[in-house]
Amino acid sequence: MTQALLAENLCKKYGRGDTSVTALDHVTISLNTGEVVALLGPSGAGKSTLLTALGLIRPPDSGRIVIDGTTVFDNGYRTDIRSFRRNNLGFVFQKANLLPFLSALENVQLPMQLDDVSGGKSRKRAMELLSQFDMAERQGFKPSELSGGQQQRVAIARALANHPKLLFADEPTAALDSVMGRKVMEMMKRVAHDFQTSVLVVTHDTRAIDVFDRILRMEDGRIHES
Ligand SMILES: Nc1ncnc2c1ncn2[C@@H]1O[C@H](COP(=O)(O)OP(=O)(O)OP(=O)(O)O)[C@@H](O)[C@H]1O
Ligand SMILES: [Mg+2]
Repeated sequence: MTQALLAENLCKKYGRGDTSVTALDHVTISLNTGEVVALLGPSGAGKSTLLTALGLIRPPDSGRIVIDGTTVFDNGYRTDIRSFRRNNLGFVFQKANLLPFLSALENVQLPMQLDDVSGGKSRKRAMELLSQFDMAERQGFKPSELSGGQQQRVAIARALANHPKLLFADEPTAALDSVMGRKVMEMMKRVAHDFQTSVLVVTHDTRAIDVFDRILRMEDGRIHES
């Protein structure tokens, strides 16, 4: 299996002196291509900090991050991270954060349009993605006309629009009931396997934990495989 992500010895402290908090304590993590991995752990363990570091949103203090063979961080950014992020990474958060004045279809098309993909092509791909998340019939609906689970499925479809190598999701099902939470996780896994996208999901929802290929636990800024 090929490695989509390798991060070694990531360290991150917030603040300084007596009141500083160690959020990442020499974290090493790897994801294989197409693997869907859960990251569990108590509040304050450092899960979101790890996701924002791996997602090139907020750099760690030190360590190394290799994505799809490219060293993107080695005690500092090594590449144009904004374009790298746009071309290779997708994000999903607890709230769908869809643009309210756009339809479901237009929301999924948006990242492709920003990337200069033609209207016809982006429409076709957006429809395919919406179908895979069982949302094709709701393509014309505005976010306010969709349930929380439906909005989140559109948000995941949007995050996958540009064929990212990696998808990072921070508690994507926290606002959903357990049946919908499980459904969303299952759909996300199926599409990730189809597209060979690796997914790292922070979750507190252990009811759907069997959906994942692998489970990591985090505590006090350290990671344990389980
Ligand atoms: N911007 C910040 N400034 C200062 N400290 C922070 C900041 N963000 C996080 N921390 C601290 O770093 C530690 C890890 O926080 P983080 O948000 O990564 O935890 P988490 O595992 O995502 O928790 P939760 O499950 O509650 O979301 C915590 O002790 C937190 O208080
Ligand atoms: Mg968090």
